[in-house]
Amino acid sequence: MIVRRGAFVVFEGIDGCGKSTQARRAARERGALLTFEPGDTALGADLRRWLLDAGPPMAPATEALLMLADRSHHVHTVIEPALARGDAVVSDRFFASTLAYQGYGRGVDLEDLEAATDLAIGSCRPDLTVWLDVSLEVANERRARDARDRFESADLDFHERVRVGYAALAARDPDHWTVIDAEGDEDDVARMVAGHLDALSWGDHG
Ligand code: TYD
Repeated sequence: MIVRRGAFVVFEGIDGCGKSTQARRAARERGALLTFEPGDTALGADLRRWLLDAGPPMAPATEALLMLADRSHHVHTVIEPALARGDAVVSDRFFASTLAYQGYGRGVDLEDLEAATDLAIGSCRPDLTVWLDVSLEVANERRARDARDRFESADLDFHERVRVGYAALAARDPDHWTVIDAEGDEDDVARMVAGHLDALSWGDHG
């Protein structure tokens, strides 16, 4: 039996790379469900507050497990049901964020994170992860305009490690990742993204 399934695309990158804007555009253009992590469920909204608001320091493993709890609930209640209906899904962040931020950024063991990811999301993997790569300087300039949360005020070294992590993840799985130079203007980046999204099957609505 052929199971109908919409495309599942994820946008990733360091804070200030422009992924929320590009995810919104891609979802609108393709008629896909737009979602995000952490926090796009009622449970997730509570977890997001604990994760991002200034509060008592949290161990990196605790932070990772809360991100994974959010993701597991998100997959089971939002992403998988949408894909099963034949809808396409565009998510602003997914499991690579935890590998990049908590793994490469904060030093949580990568194999442990991969095992926990399997537990959290099973076989629900994106067809394509679009990594919007920008230098730390450009990301910083863009972020300087916005109020910063706990992650966004983290130091430059941290964000450099996260960026290195994304590069390693993209290199490891080139069939499911694409890297876009996202330093240019929003429309140019959107055009480059669209070139890659055109190759996917967008389910019943695309
Ligand atoms: P996000 O909502 O994308 O940032 P913004 O508020 O700028 O739109 O993500 C919030 C922060 O959470 C971001 O700094 C990255 C971090 N994060 C992790 O560290 N691990 C994760 O697994 C996820 C999903 C996000």
